[in-house]
Amino acid sequence: MPEVAARKQLEFIIPSIDLAFRESNLTKNDITAVSFAYGPGLEGSLLIGLIAAKTFSYVLDVPLIGVNHLEGHIFSALPEYPNLSPPFLSLLVSGGHTALIEVSNFGKYNLLGDTRDDAAGEAFDKVAKMLDLGYPGGPIIDKLSKRGNPSEFRFPRANTGKDSFDFSFSGVKTAVRLFWERNRGSVKIEDVAASFQEAVVDAIVNKTERAIKQTKMNKLVLGGGVSANLRLREKLKELSKKMGFELYLPSILMCTDNGVMVAVIGYYKFIRGETSELSLDVVSNLAI
Ligand code: KG4
Ligand code: ZN
Repeated sequence: MPEVAARKQLEFIIPSIDLAFRESNLTKNDITAVSFAYGPGLEGSLLIGLIAAKTFSYVLDVPLIGVNHLEGHIFSALPEYPNLSPPFLSLLVSGGHTALIEVSNFGKYNLLGDTRDDAAGEAFDKVAKMLDLGYPGGPIIDKLSKRGNPSEFRFPRANTGKDSFDFSFSGVKTAVRLFWERNRGSVKIEDVAASFQEAVVDAIVNKTERAIKQTKMNKLVLGGGVSANLRLREKLKELSKKMGFELYLPSILMCTDNGVMVAVIGYYKFIRGETSELSLDVVSNLAI
């Protein structure tokens, strides 16, 4: 409900900024620049951020820096791994994206594959809703799966072609829905959750393995809400041991949407002098 989301954002933005000042012991005089995400996302919500950022920038007379939210996710491991630098392969798995991106330098991206339908996080959210588990589905299914058997049921691993790095999760979502309609009452929900999660994680890990082979990258960097998933983290750790690449996993808090990742990109843009005009507008379908 985009309308409600924007209204909530409006209600919370000033209290959130106040709290951030209090907790960090900073005052407005400590601010040298303001960065904010101008896309992609829901237009109404983005606009609230844009207006708040522009107001700060204008009143404090400091530069305004528009940041691509996806770029934030790609580099969200950076604060915890200050030595991390491109080139690397980025696996960006969030509520809106499932993408493998070749990062040759800051700002230089080559999108190898993206989702053809539902993003991984969206599939977690929709399946959790089907199973009456609540929202957001990812963390709930993650937790429930620990008590389930991931090999109890076999749900489809999407095949988008052997040369493609695209993802597709609508098939597994439909398979779970049909299975649940027929079998609810006679199966353990933990096993359904774990088996679904396994199908999604397998699909992601398989494509990632191929992308590492093809690009010959020796670093894999995760980002986005779904990279908080414990099973995905575990399987990627196994893959990194098997293939010998370095794995960069952001801490759980840094995986999901946060302001730090936007500030990090803002900082690098600031030191390169890449500031934005006050006329900058939001771009709800901003690509990488
Ligand atoms: O990156 P994010 O916070 O927002 C977007 O930019 O989309 O990602 C949110 C998504 C939601 O779909 C949520 O269910 C999923 O990330 N998510 C998880 C986990 N934690 C969050 N999915 C699987 N396992 C998790 N532990
Ligand atoms: Zn995000």
